[in-house]
Amino acid sequence: MWSLTTLSTLLLSLPLTTLAALSSNLTHISKFGPNPRNVSMYIYVPKSLPKDPPILVVPHWCHGTALDAFNGRPYAALGDQYGFISIYPDSPNTADQCWDVSSPQSLSHEGGGDALGIVSMVRWTLEKYSGDRDRVFVTGTSSGAMMTQVLLGSYPDVFAAGSAFAGVPFGCYAADGYGVWSDACATGKITHSGKEWADLLHRAYPSYTGWRPKLQVWHGTADQVLNFTNFGEEIKQWTSVLGLDERKREVSKDMPQNGWTRYRYGGGRFEAFEAEGATHDIPNQADVVMEFFDLKCRSGERCFGRPKERFRGGW
Ligand SMILES: *[C@@H]1O[C@H](CO)[C@@H](O)[C@H](O)[C@H]1NC(C)=O
Ligand SMILES: *[C@@H]1O[C@H](CO)[C@@H](O)[C@H](O)[C@H]1NC(C)=O
Ligand SMILES: *[C@@H]1O[C@H](CO)[C@@H](O)[C@H](O)[C@H]1NC(C)=O
Repeated sequence: MWSLTTLSTLLLSLPLTTLAALSSNLTHISKFGPNPRNVSMYIYVPKSLPKDPPILVVPHWCHGTALDAFNGRPYAALGDQYGFISIYPDSPNTADQCWDVSSPQSLSHEGGGDALGIVSMVRWTLEKYSGDRDRVFVTGTSSGAMMTQVLLGSYPDVFAAGSAFAGVPFGCYAADGYGVWSDACATGKITHSGKEWADLLHRAYPSYTGWRPKLQVWHGTADQVLNFTNFGEEIKQWTSVLGLDERKREVSKDMPQNGWTRYRYGGGRFEAFEAEGATHDIPNQADVVMEFFDLKCRSGERCFGRPKERFRGGW
């Protein structure tokens, strides 16, 4: 088993954004609304933006920081190019820099925990920059992928879509405390039926009956940190949550890389990428993420977002 420290070194070895090419700076914001756990907020606001810019949240991995995620992923430069704001939260859990994806607070709507702090950043940004409320997205790796699924489950009214690299299902880390590590979940020993996983998620926001964000998940078959079993558990959970038939799927080989397989459900409402042979350090796929979120789309009314008249697609 590789240590998480080795892992963060691996994640950091990914190609870095050319900082000099950016139009603006990563900026720390100290006051942005309810934040009981004191999550830190960093934001990248391109110099030039459309009048209602989309927002992308990029939570870091364990032993990572906001700056690591900013440098290790190309979203600031892509935001310059396509006109969106990116937010980089920084974990207050200084022991391991993992996210609080365990507490009953994070696992419930407006309940508190790290999840509420991150949602407050989104709300502050929507207000400050007249962001597009229907085009808020989140993508993360490892602990950031867990947080992606926690945010979609606890705040289905805030996000339009998520993309989770090497994570676990919503609630798999549930425990009585903030930022508790679950060996049982990490090693793939927590399994449920789709209905059980969905029930667990629905407890986050029982009164919610509205539209739910779409999601794509990615997992390496040789993941040595969060066992590949979690991939199957995510599929069960999200097909169930989204009301899709787990058996009805389109299978595409070599997507987006040789040997990988994409399983697509409900015409793209949910996608699961099986990364054959990949470890926990699964290569990031910003192109596919940008496409899934429709973040290259320039004309607000025709872009993917939470449903309105303008919404395209069948669901
Ligand atoms: C970034 O911040 C530095 C220091 O505050 C400032 O000198 C520089 O002009 C900023 N660059 C951009 C592109 O905003
Ligand atoms: C968050 O910061 C406030 C103000 O500094 C402090 O009173 C509070 O105890 C902190 N909360 C946590 C969970 O660290
Ligand atoms: C994942 O768990 C299964 C079942 O315990 C085990 O056989 C497999 O080796 C584990 N995968 C990795 C990459 O450790």
